Amino acid sequence: MAKGKKNGKISVIGAGNVGAMLTQLILERNLANVTLLDIDEGMAKGKACDIQDAASILGYDKVVKGTSDYSEIADSDVIVITAGFPRKPGMSREDLLNKNRVVVREISLKIKEFSPDSIVIVVTNPLDLMSYLAYKTTGFDKRKVIGMAGVLDSARCSNQASEELGITQTEVDSLVIGTHDTNMIPLFAHSKAQGKSFKAVFDQSRQSKIAERTRNRGAEIVSYLKSGSAFFAPSAACFSMVKSILNNENLTLCASAYLEGEYGLNDMFIGVPIVLGQDGIEKIMELELSDDEVNKLKNAAEQMQNAISRLGI
Ligand code: APR
Repeated sequence: MAKGKKNGKISVIGAGNVGAMLTQLILERNLANVTLLDIDEGMAKGKACDIQDAASILGYDKVVKGTSDYSEIADSDVIVITAGFPRKPGMSREDLLNKNRVVVREISLKIKEFSPDSIVIVVTNPLDLMSYLAYKTTGFDKRKVIGMAGVLDSARCSNQASEELGITQTEVDSLVIGTHDTNMIPLFAHSKAQGKSFKAVFDQSRQSKIAERTRNRGAEIVSYLKSGSAFFAPSAACFSMVKSILNNENLTLCASAYLEGEYGLNDMFIGVPIVLGQDGIEKIMELELSDDEVNKLKNAAEQMQNAISRLGI
């Protein structure tokens, strides 16, 4: 059993691309047992059976159960919400709002009813708004509702930077804050390639190129796939967060968190660096930002404030 938490149980809501891939990662790495829940019971059961069948080949002893019955999520340490509709070509994350808000609200109420002590990670887009909705609907402690975006956006930034330099991604460490949309903000002074700040490694035009490609990466993948959106890197990002909680690793990573005064912002979810451990968000790190980054964050926050008003909760 995982050392940080007593139950060693994860529930994944949504057995689509992200949910199934995340379940596979959790089992393959022997992290925890998984309840995989979908409104489409056959989808959840079929994928659970398939993942379980690989256990003797890959050598894991954890178990996945597919279901559409919410009583099965009881006593989860972590619940990951991946249910909803993915982005289609030409659709912005905002366009998803009206579809996914109904799904996330319904699921949040079920989580509150059946697993009130769990930590919730939201993956459904538009991410920061859906995290806010889950937080308000569950009524959970602010440290226990977290949106998965910053790990993914930072990884995408690292990929772009490593390609620019022709080095491996393990030699690059990026930090991306802000909202999980075109207002995401790569922090070049806090990102490093081979131990050196991006500011020292990249001139202004290469910084702009990396930032632009990072911001557009999700849409680029949607345009290639034509139906559906990215799921390999999102699942991996989510896995690292679940693992940090379950094993109480206290990793510092970027994620969407409820802010109450941090970075001068209030009553909204925005991507910031956090320390993630067995009780959820152990700490929000307040980094020094340049004037330009402060302005960009203010702009992202203003747009988020408007979106929250339109959400009407
Ligand atoms: N309750 C439970 N499951 C639901 C519900 C619901 N109310 N509504 C939809 N689902 C399930 C669908 O049946 C489907 O199996 O959610 C799953 C979504 O899977 P995909 O369509 O494959 O979407 P995926 O690529 O996994 O992305 C899910 O994550 O990255 C974000 O933008 C993405 O919001 C999207 C989410």
